[in-house]
Amino acid sequence: MKNNDFNKRSRIFFNRVAAKNYGNAEKLDRYILKNINIDDKTTILDLGCGDGRFLKELRELNPDNILYGLDISEKMLEIAGSKKIERCEFSLGESSSLPYKDDSIDLIVCLNSFHHYPNPDLTLKEIKRVLSSEGRIIIGDIFTLPIIREIINLYLPYSRSGDYKMYSKRSLDKVFCVEGFKNQNFDIISPWLFVSEYKKI
Ligand SMILES: C[S@@+](CC[C@H](N)C(=O)[O-])C[C@H]1O[C@@H](n2cnc3c(N)ncnc32)[C@H](O)[C@@H]1O
Repeated sequence: MKNNDFNKRSRIFFNRVAAKNYGNAEKLDRYILKNINIDDKTTILDLGCGDGRFLKELRELNPDNILYGLDISEKMLEIAGSKKIERCEFSLGESSSLPYKDDSIDLIVCLNSFHHYPNPDLTLKEIKRVLSSEGRIIIGDIFTLPIIREIINLYLPYSRSGDYKMYSKRSLDKVFCVEGFKNQNFDIISPWLFVSEYKKI
């Protein structure tokens, strides 16, 4: 299947479920908000921000950070926009072509979205370009046992929701290391979720 097909499927699927709180993982939100380690000046991008739920929580955590949200689904962004989050700019776009200046973002959060990206290498190049020196990315995504993951990965090209690949720590590290990122932390926070943090070096 072509990379564009994954993006097309993701867009159609998430436009359809935008109003349904799909993929909303309270546990991820709580874990990340507790460990996020930001100050007032940290500029934050929520990549694959969906309906803006996490950005709203970030705004409540700190009124000062400049926030950005990007998503491939226009319906998700309509709902995100209706939340009227102050100093938060939303963009319709795709992870491998980010509409931000070089070195302009200090922290990227990417929750339940990275496994949809059909161009992880290009996405990583873009992430590296837009992150400031020593910028960080926190990925929260689906975890499962290796054997189950391998079986699921065989079937993902047929997924109607545009899922591309489920990652292990090792396969995710491999993608990030190519662009010179260093893993800072990896936690399995529930039977189905992991959080992994990388720093640009
Ligand atoms: C399961 S939802 C998670 C949304 C949000 N991060 C959350 O935690 O509620 C996955 C999101 O990733 C977006 N997405 C999928 N592929 C994408 C891509 N290539 N570039 C940007 N966003 C993408 C979808 O439109 C969807 O909103």
